[in-house]
Amino acid sequence: MQLLRSYSSLDSTNSEAHRLLMTNEAYHGLAILAFKQTEGRGQHGRAWHSEPGQHLAMSIIIRPTDMSPSLLPVLSMKVSLGIIRVLNKIDPTISPKIKWPNDIYVNEKKLAGILIENNLSANKVQHCIIGIGMNVNEQTFADSLQRAISIRMLTNESSDIVDIASAIRQEVLTLLDGDDKVWKKEYQQYIFGFGEERNFENNEMLVKGKVIDVDDHGRLCIQLEDGTNHAYYSHELRWIL
Ligand code: BTN
Repeated sequence: MQLLRSYSSLDSTNSEAHRLLMTNEAYHGLAILAFKQTEGRGQHGRAWHSEPGQHLAMSIIIRPTDMSPSLLPVLSMKVSLGIIRVLNKIDPTISPKIKWPNDIYVNEKKLAGILIENNLSANKVQHCIIGIGMNVNEQTFADSLQRAISIRMLTNESSDIVDIASAIRQEVLTLLDGDDKVWKKEYQQYIFGFGEERNFENNEMLVKGKVIDVDDHGRLCIQLEDGTNHAYYSHELRWIL
């Protein structure tokens, strides 16, 4: 069985994964990789632009047999952790962090983004399309992307995109399908801003507080200046960096 299907060009790997699911050609664990994306999609309906040949654009198809939608936040956290594990294997000095909810950051700059598209019915998760965009071999970014960083900019070496994609696919599936009971402790070590006073916006109001956890509902837990703890869903809070 083919584990990873590579394309020279696609509109979007998430869209191709969706098409394969609609024609029942997509099995659990199949990954779609594109050298070039012409209509890459990002979070919040934004476009995701990437440099052909330099960027990792991949979607992993998940078809659970009996998964409650309440477990989707944990799925999303495990995807981030899988990416972190691979980055640590590439170079243990990279020091990547998971910027809640779905970004991978290094030194306050974005290295990778995740867009997960889910299909639910009969109160079960029918499938998930886990889209991952990672800056791998880019040497510069446009002025509009000054908060971006690539593996190459961090290590001074170019990396094999297919090798990284295969490793991420494997690590994510191991976390999702395996029985790892201690993944959460590992995840907590990589929370961006953990233990630090950070600024956020909630309903146009400034929220200042210490990042203390991400809970199993996928909420960011913050200790506010008055000492009380609050947990926020991702649509309720925006980082101010
Ligand atoms: C974000 O906005 O941070 C998420 C970006 C996700 C981009 C990836 S690239 C592979 C996959 N295909 C897409 O169209 N989007 C995701």
